[in-house]
Amino acid sequence: MNKLVKKAIEARKKAYAPYSKFKVGAALEAANGRIYTGCNVENSSYGITVCAERVALFRAVSEGVTKFKRIAIVADTKNPCPPCGICRQALYEFAQNLEVVMANTKGRTRKVKLKKLLAHPFSLNNH
Ligand code: THU
Repeated sequence: MNKLVKKAIEARKKAYAPYSKFKVGAALEAANGRIYTGCNVENSSYGITVCAERVALFRAVSEGVTKFKRIAIVADTKNPCPPCGICRQALYEFAQNLEVVMANTKGRTRKVKLKKLLAHPFSLNNH
């Protein structure tokens, strides 16, 4: 199994998802080769829940790392798990050419470019 997917599966074990019971893990590979992982963190005030992808992204950015090559996202789904719309936009801010490896816990994967997943990204440069 792909190394980045394995890291995302490991990160998923830490998911805090008592409300949805839907655990997600993410592993974000930076341009410098470092890997930042994340899991979803829910809250009883549901709306402040943060997705696994953004936890991984914000961990990296908060350490000064802002260039990325790919991200693996894992959930226990039949088909590989795609990132939500908010996470697509959050990732696009830093990595327009990101490769997204969607996966399930069995290691089934599907690779798509972020640009394809987020066809019309919001950007302040477009105005
Ligand atoms: N979730 C993620 O972590 N990533 C996504 O891209 C979609 C959804 C989480 C949020 C929430 O804790 C649970 O999955 C169900 O929506």
